[in-house]
Amino acid sequence: MAEQDFSKKEKNYYTDIPQKCEAFFLKGSNSYDWGMKNRLARIFNPRSGKTVMLAFDHGYFQGPTTGLERVDITIKPLIPSADALMLTRGILRSVIDPSHTNAVVMRASGGPSILKELSDERIAVDMEDALRMNVSAVAVQVFIGGANETQTVNNMTRLVDMGMRYGMPVLGVTAVGTELVRDARYIGLATRILAELGVSIVKTYFVPGFEQVAAACPVPIVIAGGKKLPEKDALQMARDAINQGASGVDMGRNIFQSESPVAMIGAVRKVVHDNVSVKEAYEYYLDMKKKK
Ligand code: R5P
Repeated sequence: MAEQDFSKKEKNYYTDIPQKCEAFFLKGSNSYDWGMKNRLARIFNPRSGKTVMLAFDHGYFQGPTTGLERVDITIKPLIPSADALMLTRGILRSVIDPSHTNAVVMRASGGPSILKELSDERIAVDMEDALRMNVSAVAVQVFIGGANETQTVNNMTRLVDMGMRYGMPVLGVTAVGTELVRDARYIGLATRILAELGVSIVKTYFVPGFEQVAAACPVPIVIAGGKKLPEKDALQMARDAINQGASGVDMGRNIFQSESPVAMIGAVRKVVHDNVSVKEAYEYYLDMKKKK
């Protein structure tokens, strides 16, 4: 039984200060329930409103990708610098230390390998298991215009329904098949469809005309890094994407295939969270690389 309140201090109800009801900081996310918002606030830094996600889920369809042959060796040093890790449940359980407390975005679609039709994906993680792993979002690939467009849209909407039940955000990835042109018209179509059908975050590619793509997408967009570029060019891409409305990056190869991955993720953080110029971020990269 609770003790009686014997405090001699006078009670203060601050009756002259109305309780504040502040809007949630993240684009398009104000109407969600507390749990969903809390998960999003673990992925996106509430101070900057942005995120640096580290993507190393490539093995789910292409096996031991260059730089990811030994995740336990190459990725571990980068983990403290990532706001969120984007990975598979196999790697999470086998390699990632459970005392890691930053966000986890779990790859939740899969099926075909690089040897088959890539768009033939199914849901690959049950929501109950995602909750068991305490992840902050689940990620699904959606192939708009692809051979299995409707099936992959259905994977996404089923995950959104399950996610809404448990407060789990869904990140939709716009996958571009080889037959489709990766331009603002296509990316604008795909990102908007994903947002309209309920994802909380969209991941897509940075393309010329991205500003209009971001403006027309009612939820945050994070950009994929794509194939490895010279470090300065990758930092320029991140800078341009943020300037044109991206809410962060979900970068893989441009970080873990860099000559100095730790220096590179630090430089990307400077662009995304501290709003520094490409020149400043690149100098930081060179400096950190030298110190290594
Ligand atoms: C997407 O299909 C992959 O699994 C990666 O998550 C994504 O492509 C981001 O990695 P990268 O920056 O290497 O393109």
